[in-house]
Amino acid sequence: MTKRYYLTTPIYYVNGKPHIGHAYTSILCDTFARYHRMLGDEVFFLTGTDEHGIKVQKVATAEGMEPKAFVDGIVPKFRELWSLLGIRYEHFIRTTDDYHKTGVQKVLGDLERKGDIYRAAYHGWYCTPCESFWTELQLKEGKCPDCGRDVERLEEENYFFKLSSYQQFLIDHIRANPDFIQPDYRRNEILGFLRQPLEDLCITRPKTRLTWGIEYPGSPDHVVYVWFDALLNYLTGIGFGTDDARFRKFWPADCHMVGKDILRQHAVYWPIMLRAMGVELPKRVYAHGWWKIGGAKMSKSLGNIVDPVEIVTKYGTDAFRYFLMREVTLGLDGTYSEDLLLERYTSDLANDLGNLWHRTASMIEKYFEGKVPQVAPEVWQTKLMRDTLALWRGVTDDVLRYDPREALAKIWSVVTEANQFVEEKKPWSLAKDPAKHGELADVLYALAECVAHIGILIGPFMPATSERILSRLKVATAGRVSDEAGFGEPMTVPGTPIEKGAPLFPRLDEKTA
Ligand code: MSP
Repeated sequence: MTKRYYLTTPIYYVNGKPHIGHAYTSILCDTFARYHRMLGDEVFFLTGTDEHGIKVQKVATAEGMEPKAFVDGIVPKFRELWSLLGIRYEHFIRTTDDYHKTGVQKVLGDLERKGDIYRAAYHGWYCTPCESFWTELQLKEGKCPDCGRDVERLEEENYFFKLSSYQQFLIDHIRANPDFIQPDYRRNEILGFLRQPLEDLCITRPKTRLTWGIEYPGSPDHVVYVWFDALLNYLTGIGFGTDDARFRKFWPADCHMVGKDILRQHAVYWPIMLRAMGVELPKRVYAHGWWKIGGAKMSKSLGNIVDPVEIVTKYGTDAFRYFLMREVTLGLDGTYSEDLLLERYTSDLANDLGNLWHRTASMIEKYFEGKVPQVAPEVWQTKLMRDTLALWRGVTDDVLRYDPREALAKIWSVVTEANQFVEEKKPWSLAKDPAKHGELADVLYALAECVAHIGILIGPFMPATSERILSRLKVATAGRVSDEAGFGEPMTVPGTPIEKGAPLFPRLDEKTA
């Protein structure tokens, strides 16, 4: 039976252009989604935009625009960036879409009837940039404990969601399902947080303060808190309330990929909301780290963002994807700098993979009129071929464990091995001796096969490079390899003309020339 795989990115705030931090979450998810498609799974990859709330309202007002007109102008920038980065999703949800708003209102009505939502007066402190309420005790020297900025005193009537009733349930669930929050150190952090009693969550804002939101179904004076609205996208985006068959087919989500800054919302609020609704919990919430610049998180509010479009224009989409996934272990923070990117580009891409392709294709051109040579079957017994074929299992295990860095490291160890194989075999010497023509054919065939197999495996990580390698080698099996047996088959056809083409990763001075 076909397996299903439902994966989500957070939905991005549209108060500005997307940056590397956003690109990272989407690239990770795209890679996992592509890998699962390659395995033959029926994948639903959902992404989209989080459009309501005070942050967006403020920027729109500053620009002298209506919020809806403002967000309509920003959303295409996200879609364009995803297309530039090769992000292939099944659906793009906007929280201003009608089906989403209807779904949110239905959930609120149901929870209120069930007694999980109540109306009460609220007194407390509010941090506008963080959109968080704090009690007197939680403040740090009178300021927001998260960001250290000023807070405002608030007294208003609001609706509250009874998080507190489900605290023990959540603790038990996290303990019984070790995969639910990943990596492990983040699960421990959440369990630590749950040692304090949970306060109920204020899930509305009075319209006097915020108009840009979904209207609360029980009260025309309130709009829904942006997080309550946003989290529900994971249900409405696959048909909750509109396409029940699709919803049942894909829910529960296999993985919500999120940054560590929004883990609490996903690992505490969200499972409790689902439990209250009587909906199964997602299988996994995976928190990745931050990209930092000079020790600080890259963020719009700090103004230290790097525009992915500039980087991609200079280095190419696949180099950017490769860098982000190879540089840090998923879960940990990474330091972004163009020097580090350039280093990876030069060593791993231009010198290792690019050179492997170039010398393989050049020698096939030179010694075999550009056609894949005929070989003896023993070729498949060489260490290089055995190590190449073993990649399927190793890389697949790494991807299923959400370790793309290790997966790439394994692939690159074979790239290195193949380059060493060229040095050892010295095809240029074999070519001088007609008696060694058979051996020369074996060496070049092995290299062509090795590169073809690597071409298949890098597909989910670097789709454009994979496509170029496979089409130059005329590999027709691409897209049809979905298991170890298929991966073990020959990919190239002796006698077929190949195309050397332009360098896969040109030296940057050549590129800009
Ligand atoms: N709208 C909420 C998510 C709602 S999901 C129901 C939100 N949006 S965001 O645009 O601020 O952030 C979206 C994602 O980008 C988060 O996963 C966040 O961690 C990630 N990143 C933003 N800056 C980042 C870095 N500097 N580094 C890595 N990822 C970071 O939060």
